[in-house]
Amino acid sequence: MIFDIITIFPQIFDSYFNESILSRAQKKNLIKINIHNLRDYTLDKHKKVDDKPYGGGQGMILQVEPFYRALANIKMQKSKIKMTNQNAKLTAKTKTIMLTPTGKTLDQKMAMKLSKLDNIILLCGRYEGFDARIDKFVDEKISIGNYVLSGGELPAMVLVEAVSRIIPGVLGHSHSAEDDTFSVDKDYVEYPQFTRPEKFQIPNPKQITNSKKQKTKTLSVPKVLLSGDHKKIEEWKKKHIKRKTN
Ligand code: ADE
Repeated sequence: MIFDIITIFPQIFDSYFNESILSRAQKKNLIKINIHNLRDYTLDKHKKVDDKPYGGGQGMILQVEPFYRALANIKMQKSKIKMTNQNAKLTAKTKTIMLTPTGKTLDQKMAMKLSKLDNIILLCGRYEGFDARIDKFVDEKISIGNYVLSGGELPAMVLVEAVSRIIPGVLGHSHSAEDDTFSVDKDYVEYPQFTRPEKFQIPNPKQITNSKKQKTKTLSVPKVLLSGDHKKIEEWKKKHIKRKTN
């Protein structure tokens, strides 16, 4: 899977994509993430990417030309690679996606569909939005939730992570995306899990806990989980599965 991200803040991605799972996935060549600076696709010396809206209105709008040039360039590079690489699929499945609060809300089912593609091109917005003509060059619009962020960079990171962890091999042997909260059944979340210590003695309960809710000074791991009785443990887990609340 190749992700191409078009943004005016290319450095935002550096730390997140160079840590942990996504860093390993890139090193193992399971995914490739290319970050493209939208300003590299401008022709003026100020590298201007935005302007005032026609007809009046607040803020600045991202212009169509830099996005068109960036997309044309990315697509041209890919067709060159395809022509020179005998092994490359001739019909690579590519989708161009605009990240916007007005898009379809990302969920696990959508992430699974996207993980079947060969190439995802992501357009990150900033300011008051995109020139409406950019719509002509995108296949899909995606939102990561019903709230407005200052740009598409965080949504792009969310989408890259949600899609990548579904790709076989990305999570490694110890964990598979099949085990994930929403993979089994859309309504399920996980059962409660515990690790050491067996008993946690709260040193000063009043200091950080809601005293109405917190009656005890000791938080213990449920006994059944320490019993070694696998049948009972499975029953306990089933009984304690928590569902998503909204
Ligand atoms: N850009 C700003 N807010 C967004 C959101 N919620 N989802 C996707 N892109 C966005």
